[in-house]
Amino acid sequence: MASNVCVFCATLLLSFFLFGVVVDGDINGTTRRDRSLESKVFDVHRYGAHGDGRHDDTKALAKAWAEACSSLQPAIVIIPKGRRYLTKHVTFSGPCRSSIMLMIEGTLMAPPQGSHWSKKTNRHWILFNGVIGLTVTGGGTVDGNGRLWWQKSCKTSSRFPCKQAPTALTFYSCKNLRLENLELMNSQQIHMSVEDCSHVKIVRLSITAPGTSPNTDGIHITRSRHVHVTDCTIKTGDDCISIEDRTQNLHVKNIVCGPGHGISIGSLGDHGSEAHVNNVTVDGVVLHGTTNGARIKTWQGGRGYAKNIVFQNMIMDMVWNPIVIDQNYCDSATPCKKQKSAVEVSNVLFKNIRGTSASKEAIKLSCSAGVPCHGIALENVKLTLKDVSGVAKSTCENAIWRKSGTVDPHPCTLSN
Ligand SMILES: *[C@@H]1O[C@H](CO)[C@@H](O)[C@H](O)[C@H]1NC(C)=O
Ligand SMILES: *[C@@H]1O[C@H](CO)[C@@H](O)[C@H](O)[C@H]1NC(C)=O
Repeated sequence: MASNVCVFCATLLLSFFLFGVVVDGDINGTTRRDRSLESKVFDVHRYGAHGDGRHDDTKALAKAWAEACSSLQPAIVIIPKGRRYLTKHVTFSGPCRSSIMLMIEGTLMAPPQGSHWSKKTNRHWILFNGVIGLTVTGGGTVDGNGRLWWQKSCKTSSRFPCKQAPTALTFYSCKNLRLENLELMNSQQIHMSVEDCSHVKIVRLSITAPGTSPNTDGIHITRSRHVHVTDCTIKTGDDCISIEDRTQNLHVKNIVCGPGHGISIGSLGDHGSEAHVNNVTVDGVVLHGTTNGARIKTWQGGRGYAKNIVFQNMIMDMVWNPIVIDQNYCDSATPCKKQKSAVEVSNVLFKNIRGTSASKEAIKLSCSAGVPCHGIALENVKLTLKDVSGVAKSTCENAIWRKSGTVDPHPCTLSN
């Protein structure tokens, strides 16, 4: 009886999902006939999962996925509530024969760092590869169990060699992807990465790891187009959201960050590489105690561009560097040498940004002499110092910028 009820709920949920998608216009080919099709449910317990947090459930998950993925009807894989599923590295591949939903109601838990991980598997924990029309939801938890990885990171102590650690969730080459209502925690490294995807919606995620955990970025986006990230809370030891090369048409809205490193575009153009980032809007973000707020960072010697970028409606609460463009970014053991070429940074708007800076350098525009930043606009910015004596200031170098409304601290060079 209980399982019948569950099947019913899931069917109902899927109908909402399909209906929602039709309204969004996200998945084409979703016809009336599809909507009346019943979805098929694949409970991982039917494929041998234990859900006791001790037995390895990797195979059961993989099997449930394979069956669901070959279903002609829309499929729902259920990971039931109230249980913990120990899962090693696993790949969920597509394309599937119909749309597919992974309902994580319980907890997926990674084994700790140790012999469970091999060189071959330690880049990804759970990898979704080439899936079209995927929804991952269910209100459950994805726990990377990262403590031992962090302890043995070279960023924790120079005694340890710098080694690869897994990204908890990777979405590679997915299209029409929706992630909604999930808790991601204690990832080994990056919590989730969206790579080579298009038409992605990320909604209501809660991402949590200690502020001291190394490289635990919240959401990483690269080589992807048409991505929306909405209503997320992200507290980690690294970037809240990192936006990398070949991101285009990204909209980020209603995010709470901190602790962590804030929202960053880049780093771009390392090792003389070419980068293209275009049309990114970050709107409505509150940052608590992060090292950066709104940041664009590029290495010397790179090529390409980062353009048409808006950071607006942001509240900084004790952020070390609230507004930063840094074309001289250098994160290497040896100093980076001066180079002429650079990733061109243009048409960047910082609008309605207020709050407190934890360092005196509230606005920093450190641009390249060879390829100066241009089209930089500041509008209604008010950043003050809290618990520090003195006044907030701005520094700039090779930046062509204008202001409108009140901008405080006052820009250091003005053109226009
Ligand atoms: C779905 O989109 C593809 C690519 O844009 C197009 O070729 C195809 O005709 C569309 N299918 C429907 C049913 O609209
Ligand atoms: C910019 O991206 C948004 C989505 O964030 C999209 O709606 C808009 O059409 C894009 N603009 C251009 C010029 O491509």
